[in-house]
Amino acid sequence: MTRYLDIGPLDDIPREGARVVKTAMGCVAVFRTATDAVFALDDRCPHKGGPLSEGIVHGTSVTCPLHAWVFDMGTGAAQGADEGQVATYDVRVEAGRVLLDTSRILRERAA
Ligand code: FES
Repeated sequence: MTRYLDIGPLDDIPREGARVVKTAMGCVAVFRTATDAVFALDDRCPHKGGPLSEGIVHGTSVTCPLHAWVFDMGTGAAQGADEGQVATYDVRVEAGRVLLDTSRILRERAA
C-alpha cells in the first residue's frame, strides 16, 4: 500500500538544494532540481556515509560532499567508475506540496 506523507511546501526546498526528513529508518534527503523536479534518496552516501543532502545538485544528479561520487537521483546509482547504490523513494508534488511515499520505510520498519 502506498502511503504519502506531506512533508511541506515545495517552496520550502531551495532550488538545487535539499531538505532532510527524519524517519524511523534514517534520514531521507528530498532534493529539488533547478526545474522543480523532486527526488528522494537516503541521506547517506554508500561510500563512507557522507550527507548527500549537503551535496551539489546538477541536473538530476547529486555529487557527494565528501569524496565527490556522483549519483543519479532517479535511480540512486553511482555514475562513472564508482559503484554504489543509494535507496530511492517515490516522491511527488501535488498542489505545491511535497508528498513522500513512506510505504517502503514502514515496510522495512515492520520487518
Ligand atoms: S562518502 Fe560520499 S563519496 Fe565518499
